[in-house]
Amino acid sequence: MRRDALSLGLSLLLVGCSRQQSGPGVDLAQGKQLYEQNCASCHGVQGEGAVEWQELNADGSYRAPPHTDEGHTWHHPDEQLYLIVRDGGRAPGTTMPAFGSQLDHAEIIAVLEYIKTFWSPEMHASQARGSEAMPYPVTDGK
Ligand code: HEC
Repeated sequence: MRRDALSLGLSLLLVGCSRQQSGPGVDLAQGKQLYEQNCASCHGVQGEGAVEWQELNADGSYRAPPHTDEGHTWHHPDEQLYLIVRDGGRAPGTTMPAFGSQLDHAEIIAVLEYIKTFWSPEMHASQARGSEAMPYPVTDGK
């Protein structure tokens, strides 16, 4: 009996640890720097999005949406976010560039983990649940 309780306790402990590590060895300072260099000009320094982002441009294309709770970024699981950054936006006529040739695997994840600091704890938790089945790819596929 005591042994069962002990091993249960131990496995819970291990689950706890692996969860924490799955927010991988990410360098948020690097993520911030990369975000400000590559993303802020369109998405805003605080992730606030383009001015009147809900309006369309004259050519019908979307403006850069916010990465805060107000936008949709948190609706997407990690895998989708990763692919959008690597391969570019999906909207017709999008100006969202593909960063696959500029940012390496760890840098894409660092930028995305930095964006998550714009979210409230509720959005963070909701997006994390959605990402359990669709986590970041293991490599950038190159
Ligand atoms: C030249 C402007 C521009 C730059 C620079 C830019 N984006 Fe975007 N981004 C957009 C636009 C416009 C959209 C909306 C259209 C679309 O999704 O195709 C978008 C959409 C996105 C989305 C999807 C949001 C959603 O709700 O579906 C993510 C994630 C994203 N960008 C991340 C980034 C990251 C990370 C960077 C920097 C590495 C970046 N973007 C740089 C213009 C830009």
